[in-house]
Amino acid sequence: MKVLGHRGAAGSAPENTLPAFEKGLEYGVDGFEFDVQLSRDGEVVICHDERVDRTSDGVGWLKDFTLKELKALNFGVRFGRRAEIPRLSELLGLLEGKDLLLNVEVKSSPLVEYPGIVDKVVELLAKYRVLPRSVLSSFDHRVAAEVIRKYPQAATGLLYASGPLRPWLYAEKIGAGHLHPHFAFVDPELVQESHARGIGVNVWTVDEPWVMEKMAAAGVDCVITNYPERFKLPAAVNHA
Ligand code: G3P
Ligand code: MG
Repeated sequence: MKVLGHRGAAGSAPENTLPAFEKGLEYGVDGFEFDVQLSRDGEVVICHDERVDRTSDGVGWLKDFTLKELKALNFGVRFGRRAEIPRLSELLGLLEGKDLLLNVEVKSSPLVEYPGIVDKVVELLAKYRVLPRSVLSSFDHRVAAEVIRKYPQAATGLLYASGPLRPWLYAEKIGAGHLHPHFAFVDPELVQESHARGIGVNVWTVDEPWVMEKMAAAGVDCVITNYPERFKLPAAVNHA
């Protein structure tokens, strides 16, 4: 079972900023989950909320800020430090040469859409040669449909936080390679039925040891956690 850092390693540093990814690397993660959106001038940036209010000293919708305006905000306020919002290209540069899994959560909804974001994300992942190690996931399953239609070589994951019946049939029907359920909706049957169809199961957000044990027993492929240090040894120790 692989351990992915959630929003970098959001328990230790400002979420979705380069310091959070550096922390995850220290902890020896197998990969990262992070969220992408588009600035007003069309840059792919890494940020969870559609508004900047919670994680920065700014106010408003991320899509209304240019990259330059976003870079002027402090995304480290919750940790009492300075941290910039990263572009996706900056993160991919930081991770170059490292054999990590990337779970790119594309933020999208009928209320806040980012036209062209799938094309831009796939183009960047291909440019940095990490597309074969990446999954494009979204709660907006239209994103999965777009990836499947336009980029059959790319992997896609269906995020969900409720209890659909036989989600493996849904994934199989639309051609998605991965299910990304909240851990509350995972049991051994889900994993067995998914794996029988070649569908991966990647689970969020697993921060407690008892949940981690339950996911391991169910046989999931990846867990996504804010606290990879609870489940992974530091890289230096891993490699000793
Ligand atoms: O991709 C897994 C997880 O990040 C989904 O929820 O709200 O933390 O992006 P959220
Ligand atoms: Mg996410």
